[in-house]
Amino acid sequence: MDGEHVRLRKLERADLPLLHRWYNDADVMAWARFSPDHMRSLEALEKEYAQELSGEEDERATFVIEDRASGTPIGSCVMRTWDRKHVNTTVGILLEKDRWGQGYGTEAMVLLLRIAFDHQGWHRADLWTLAENERAIRSFEKAGFRLVGVEREATYSDGRYKDVALMEQLKAEWDARTRTP
Ligand SMILES: CC(C)(COP(=O)(O)OP(=O)(O)OC[C@H]1O[C@@H](n2cnc3c(N)ncnc32)[C@H](O)[C@@H]1OP(=O)(O)O)[C@@H](O)C(=O)NCCC(=O)NCCS
Repeated sequence: MDGEHVRLRKLERADLPLLHRWYNDADVMAWARFSPDHMRSLEALEKEYAQELSGEEDERATFVIEDRASGTPIGSCVMRTWDRKHVNTTVGILLEKDRWGQGYGTEAMVLLLRIAFDHQGWHRADLWTLAENERAIRSFEKAGFRLVGVEREATYSDGRYKDVALMEQLKAEWDARTRTP
């Protein structure tokens, strides 16, 4: 799936060392997983993604985000689709840190939503992020999400409890924004 600057493609086995690098970057994890200590070994990742890589996973789809100009992988995003009634999908995204703040994340999220809403027909998408993650919240708003509310002191890192924001977007809102009359 191509955007102007980024491309989404399915995760391949050869990407696991990259994921391993991002999942062991304390700065990335501090925002993406709410805590810098959220590290995983390559072996654990190989186990975690084995089913998805063999096409047997139907509750999660992971995509690699590439910079189209160079073909370089710059991050990943995910759709979690455990809702059997096909109502809600939960999404997530991370970029390696030298790519933050240049528009790639918003564009990649819009491509992910195109898959979720235009191709798979999900009714609603949601996501959680640290309430203090202003860059992410701004990016998600640009991609059409709205803040539902804040769960107070729902996570803990750096010696303090932190608020977590829930954001949502309905397919009807996506359609209204993206469909030409
Ligand atoms: C969240 C993430 C995917 C966003 O992608 P991105 O490419 O960095 O975002 P964009 O550049 O498209 O948009 C960021 C917006 O936030 C603004 N911004 C950047 N830093 C900011 C800050 N400290 N405070 C407020 N706004 C900020 C930018 O100006 C931009 O808004 P604008 O276009 O209106 O000027 C990326 O930053 C990332 O991977 N961060 C680490 C992991 C993470 O936080 N994941 C999401 C948590 S679930």
